Amino acid sequence: MARGLKRLITNDLTQRWPAPSRVRRLFAVLAVATAGLIACACSETPQTAFNPRSEYADDGLNLFIVVIWFGVIIGVLVEGVLIWAAIQYRRRPRDPLPPQIHGNTIIEILWTTGPVIVVGYILFITLPVIFSTQAPAPPSSMDVEVIGHQFWWEFQYPDANVVTANELHLPVGQTANLILQSDDVIHSFWIPALGGKRDAFPGHTNFIWMTPNSTGEFPGQCYQLCGYSHGNMRERAIIESPTDFQAWLKSQQQPVVQPTDPTAVEGGQLFQTRGCAACHAINGTPAQGKVGPNLTHVASRGVIAGSVLQNTTQDMRVWLKDPPGVKPGSIMPNLSLNDHELDVLVAYLQSLK
Ligand code: CUA
Repeated sequence: MARGLKRLITNDLTQRWPAPSRVRRLFAVLAVATAGLIACACSETPQTAFNPRSEYADDGLNLFIVVIWFGVIIGVLVEGVLIWAAIQYRRRPRDPLPPQIHGNTIIEILWTTGPVIVVGYILFITLPVIFSTQAPAPPSSMDVEVIGHQFWWEFQYPDANVVTANELHLPVGQTANLILQSDDVIHSFWIPALGGKRDAFPGHTNFIWMTPNSTGEFPGQCYQLCGYSHGNMRERAIIESPTDFQAWLKSQQQPVVQPTDPTAVEGGQLFQTRGCAACHAINGTPAQGKVGPNLTHVASRGVIAGSVLQNTTQDMRVWLKDPPGVKPGSIMPNLSLNDHELDVLVAYLQSLK
C-alpha cells in the first residue's frame, strides 16, 4: 500500500505497479478519506458568503451562482467530449495512422465565439453590480468610521460620540456607510454575510455600504496580509433591532462607572500606573491613550484581542499575561504582570460594563 502510494507520488517507474488487491485497498482508503472530508464540510460555517444578509451580499452571491453554473455546464461538456474522444479514438493494436488533418473553420469559429458570448454575458450582468456597490452611499446612511490597526478593528460612531473595538453594532434595515481607514498598514474589511471585501488604507479614505436585512451575529476576517497576526485579525457584526441598537448606543455613551469592589479599585489604580493608560483610553479617567482599543465599556463586549478570545475572566487573564503569545506581533507588550496584578486588573476591566 505505502509502496503503491509512493510509486503514484514519485512516478518511480523502477518499482512494480501495485498488485490489483493493493490498488483496491488504496481506493478504499481514498474513498473513506473523501467521505470523512465531506462529513467535515457539514459542520457549521458561519463565516460564509452563502448566507447573505444584505443587498450587497445578495448581489455578490447571485453573480457567483451564475458564474458557477456556467463553469459547471462548460466543464462537464468539455470534459465529457474530452473523455469520450479519448476512449472512442484511443490507439488500438495494429491501427493504421489516422488521417492527418489541420484546422476546421466551423469549429474554430464556434469555440472562439462561444466563450466570447459567455464572458460577454458575465460582464454584462457584473458591471451594474460593480457600479452600484462602488457608488457613494445614499445620504440617509448612518456613518461608522472603521479603522484598521495591527491587529484589531476600531469602530467609531461619530454622531453618537461612541468608540468601540472588534464588534460592529448596526441596526437592521438601516443603510450603514462604513468609512474605512487604517492606522498603520493596508487591511481589508470583510464580513461575508454583509458583502464584499474592501481595503482600508493609511492616509486614504475608502468606503463600503450595505443595508443589513436580518438580526444576528456575523463573523468576518481581515483579508489583506497585514503582519504576523493577520490571521488573528477578526471582527464580527452584531445586527440588532433599531430599539436594541439605540439601547446599546446609549449604554456606550454613559460615563464609566467607577467600581466599588476593593479588588477592582486596586486594579483601576494599577491600570493608571502600570503602563496600560499610555495606550488605552477609559473616558472619564486620566487614561487617554490612543494606541490600543478604547476600554471605557470593555466588559460589554463579547470578544477581546481582535476577536481571538472570548471576553471572560479566564481569557482576559490569558491575554494580559502574554499578549504576543496570544497574538504574535501584537503591539501590546508582555508587561510581566504577577498573579496578583493580573487578578486585580481583570477584576477592574470586567467591571467596565
Ligand atoms: Cu489586518 Cu490582515
